[in-house]
Amino acid sequence: MAIASTIRPCCSHLLLSQIIPKYPYHFSKSQKCPHRYEVVAQAASTAPAPHPTFDPVGAGSATPPHILLHGLKPLVFTPLLPFPEKTRNVDPVRHEPIPRTESVAEREAWKLLNQSVVNYCGKPVGTVATADAGAFKGELLNYDQVFIRDFVPSALAFLLKGETEIVRNFLLHTLQLQSWEKTVDCYSPGQGLMPASFKVHAAPIDGNADAEEEVLDPDFGESAIGRVAPVDSGLWWIILLRAYGKITGDFSLLERVDVQTGIKLILNLCLSDGFDMFPTLLVTDGSCMIDRRMGIHGHPLEIQSLFYSALRCAKEMLTFNEGSANLIRAIKNRLSALSFHVREYYWVDLKKLNEIYRYKTEEYSQNATNKFNIYPEQIPAWLVDWIPDRGGYLIGNVQPAHMDFRFFSLGNLWAIVSSLTTPKQAEGILSLIEEKWDDLIGTMPLKISYPALESDEWRIITGSDPKNTPWSYHNGGSWPTLLWQFTLACIKMGRPDLAKRAISTAEKRLLDDNWPEYYDTPTGRFVGKQSRLYQTWTVAGFLTSKLLLEKPELASILTFEEDLELLEGCACRLSRNGRTRCSRQAARSQLLGNCA
Ligand code: GLC
Repeated sequence: MAIASTIRPCCSHLLLSQIIPKYPYHFSKSQKCPHRYEVVAQAASTAPAPHPTFDPVGAGSATPPHILLHGLKPLVFTPLLPFPEKTRNVDPVRHEPIPRTESVAEREAWKLLNQSVVNYCGKPVGTVATADAGAFKGELLNYDQVFIRDFVPSALAFLLKGETEIVRNFLLHTLQLQSWEKTVDCYSPGQGLMPASFKVHAAPIDGNADAEEEVLDPDFGESAIGRVAPVDSGLWWIILLRAYGKITGDFSLLERVDVQTGIKLILNLCLSDGFDMFPTLLVTDGSCMIDRRMGIHGHPLEIQSLFYSALRCAKEMLTFNEGSANLIRAIKNRLSALSFHVREYYWVDLKKLNEIYRYKTEEYSQNATNKFNIYPEQIPAWLVDWIPDRGGYLIGNVQPAHMDFRFFSLGNLWAIVSSLTTPKQAEGILSLIEEKWDDLIGTMPLKISYPALESDEWRIITGSDPKNTPWSYHNGGSWPTLLWQFTLACIKMGRPDLAKRAISTAEKRLLDDNWPEYYDTPTGRFVGKQSRLYQTWTVAGFLTSKLLLEKPELASILTFEEDLELLEGCACRLSRNGRTRCSRQAARSQLLGNCA
């Protein structure tokens, strides 16, 4: 397979044709590291107004034009360094706060997280996936890179601790990598794609073997196993950008023309017209955290939850002007349709399963109940006994004649966090997790998916993948990094007790086992067969969970409440036939009431 690869220099003089991204910035040859770009004539309809110069790492004098942000409000933020006020005791003699004692696991975790930091041009820009990259049978693969999705819990741990520089640098440097020209067999991915990961390495300057410079080398999937483009990277980037803005109050970063353009490029890619009949995003297998074939192609829940969250973040952060009005309208429409679709068609509980069990099939009409022609025989045997009387969950995928009934943790948790579900559904998901604690949390939180694919299903759906054998890795393995997303969802729903219980199950074991990437077996008793140790997002996920529990009010940098304007939009479109009234009241009863 021929793969064209380009790298991005830290501070050198390169030919424009070697380094120019497709759109819209030119490298300014005269700049030393940290480098500068110039906005050039726009080639796409989404182009922002040209702005003379700007500085990706914020060291220059360029000031973006003042722009009013749409709805983002800063939090009153007190950095957590060294420890939050409420956990401090006061020294009676000196009248000074006595710092809270960190647990052994926390101390070790901070040490590891700091060691994992990757520098570029002398500045921190991310964290490496694992400190143990080559330890598994010497197979380095890409574990020595900075992954966009893996960096999110690291970024949050740093932000919650009051260290913001690394996150700012990460956001701006990954932005420069967006749309970088990479091709697989003569074909380039769409503009706006964010890389799955990047690496900093040394390269000779202008062919001179004696002089080296640092370069950022992104991977958009053209080197990844399976050659899958990471759909989730851009969504995570937008989510992290909002969290950074809310916690730091640094809105000048969000207002920058390059940052606004970055958001628009990601969204244009996601919102572009295709052949879809559904508001959910159509993607290929393995385009998210589960980055190998696992039968999640189509409309997997994880992508839909992140998509919904990113759209809500963008709605807050995009500047409102003539150039963005259409995009903001498209975002609102998609949000309404997406939440209706997921709430209505992905949700299952005992009542809904009973409905599906009695579904009529082959319905041809606009008013069909069984819109996707689901044959009741699809209800898997395991689910009949497993579904509790109380609670429910969002299933993994909905497509014509296909419901993937597996439980996927990340998608369910993120649907709670972003209010993609109704409040009642969100409560129902946590009830189900509580009820099915042994299956989903077991001896190590948290199952990535439940249950595992076995026998023929494993052979056919995973392609006999030896890494995804039953109850291992993505196929029913337990991933401690998911702890922070669980904690976030629990805090949002007023159930921190559940998160505390899960963290205490994980804490000692993670330290003793050297922070594995994942665990195997139905209850997570063994360290994963091919698991790396000292996995950074395991470490960071643990720290972020602890910090969120200490300052639960800061969970709001990531969460969203129900938006009645969006519900109203959907209720209005549903009531075009005039049967229902078009109002917030109608929206509330129609969507909050009916969908569980
Ligand atoms: C594995 C995981 C992926 C993660 C990467 C780096 O490929 O499936 O989600 O980003 O490792 O940790």
